[in-house]
Order: sequence, then structure tokens, then C-alpha cells
Amino acid sequence: MLFERLTVDGRVVHYAAAGDEHAPQTLVLIHGFPLGVRMWEPQLTRLGLLLNEPAAASRWRLLAPSLPGYDGSDSVAQPSMDDYASHVLAFLDHQGVATAVVAGLSMGGYVAFALLRQAARRVTGLVLADTRSGVDSEQGRAGRHRMIEMVTAGGARAAADDLIPKLVGPTTMGTRPDVIAALRQMIEAQPPAAIVDSTRAMLARQDAGPLLPSLRLPALVLVGEEDTMTPPEESERISAALPGATLVRVPRAGHMSNMENSEPFNDAVRGFLQRIAG
Ligand code: MLT
Repeated sequence: MLFERLTVDGRVVHYAAAGDEHAPQTLVLIHGFPLGVRMWEPQLTRLGLLLNEPAAASRWRLLAPSLPGYDGSDSVAQPSMDDYASHVLAFLDHQGVATAVVAGLSMGGYVAFALLRQAARRVTGLVLADTRSGVDSEQGRAGRHRMIEMVTAGGARAAADDLIPKLVGPTTMGTRPDVIAALRQMIEAQPPAAIVDSTRAMLARQDAGPLLPSLRLPALVLVGEEDTMTPPEESERISAALPGATLVRVPRAGHMSNMENSEPFNDAVRGFLQRIAG
């Protein structure tokens, strides 16, 4: 995947772009933890084409910025979810994008919630994949502290060892060595400091539950049927609280539903985008 490079507020931001660069509609893709933009490869390639087929009802540009510290982008000191959201908004400003449909997977969903708190008027639609609206349980918080210790001692490889069995479902584990290898490569490429920063930012994130009923925008909620990190019940809760949301379950996929079974994932996103822009 080719990264493009931009300087935003004096900081280098790497990003990937796809689709029609002159399209009036933009889909911004916010990556999960601790992965970087390459996780969106099946969307940047296939969905970018599908959305701009000659018969398509609308035309789309896809933009996937790396969050601070990821993929060689400059970091910010002690980032919060709000800082990540401000970073995405500043990136969109530099791209001349006033409004966009925002898609986030897992931690990308937490960033999307922060972005909606800051600038709801700039979001014309929401795609939430394999995420949760609430904060961490006690057990979840303990796991975050363990992650910080593990990565501090063992680097990004320790994060990959711990996370990969949780990120994918049994179907992928048994049949998709390509996805497992890609995830390992993505995680091991990230600086340990970025992984620790995100872990601290997730620990301190706000509960997005109270925000959901106030959101007046079209929304698509996706979840892998085999997701154990943010199980389908989490997505059911989000879609029940979000007026105007549609829930789609992605079969034979775990937490990384967009990578593990990209075809139904892309179909659902394409249908949603064509509907709201049509
Ligand atoms: C992610 O995939 O971004 C993580 O599972 C988020 C989290 O750990 O809460």
C-alpha cells in the first residue's frame, strides 16, 4: 500500500487514499488498536472501486489517516481520544474536506465518538465496526495495565503475541494464515510508544453511551459474528441506542471483520453509502 504524506500543524501525517479523488463524498476510515492504516487495505482497494463503478449512484473518495505515532506519523505528547479526533479533523481540513462519513473500527469507533462530540456537524454518516460505547470493565482496565507492562518490556511483538488470538475469530484462525500474517506485520511495525499511548488514551476515554441517543445521522453498525473482544451484544446495544442505525452481522469473522470477511463488510458499507448519498 502506498502511503501519502502531509504536514499538519507542523507534524507529519501518513495516510492512504483511494477512490475518486474529485468525488464530492468522502469516507474517512479510522483504524483500530494497534494496527495502523494497512488494516483498511480491503476497503481501500475493493470498496474504493465498487463505490465508483460507472453505475454507482454516488462517487466517493476514501481517506485513511494514521493516528499520531502510527505508520511513521509524528506522535503527540500523551494523546487522548479527543486529541486523536482533533488530529483527524485537522487532517480533513488540510484535505479540504468539510463533511464526511466517518468509519471507525474498535478504537477507531472511540475516536469517532470523540469526533462527534467535537464536530457533529461535520459528520454526515457513521459506520461503527466491532466497537463498544461504554468504558472498560475493571477486568478490562487491568488488561490495559498488563498491556502497558508487556509492551514496555517486550515491545510491539509482545502486543502482537497477546492480541492476535483475540483479534480474529476461529474461522480466520483456522483458514486465513494471510490475515494472521498481515496483522502480525502491522502490529510489529508500530512503535511501542504509540501502543502504550493508545492504551493510556483508551483507559481514559469517556463513556459514549449518553451521546448515542442524541445523534441524528444515518448509521451502520457492523460486527463479526465471532467477535469476542467486542461481542455482537455490544453492537446490538449501540444500534438500539442510536436512532436510525442498521446492524449488520458479518459471518465467519471475529473482531477484524473488515479484514476477515471483507466481501459482506464492503457490501454493507457500499449499500449504506449509496443509500445515504443517493
Ligand atoms: C481495537 O481493536 O481497536 C481494540 O480492540 C480496542 C480496545 O482494546 O478497546
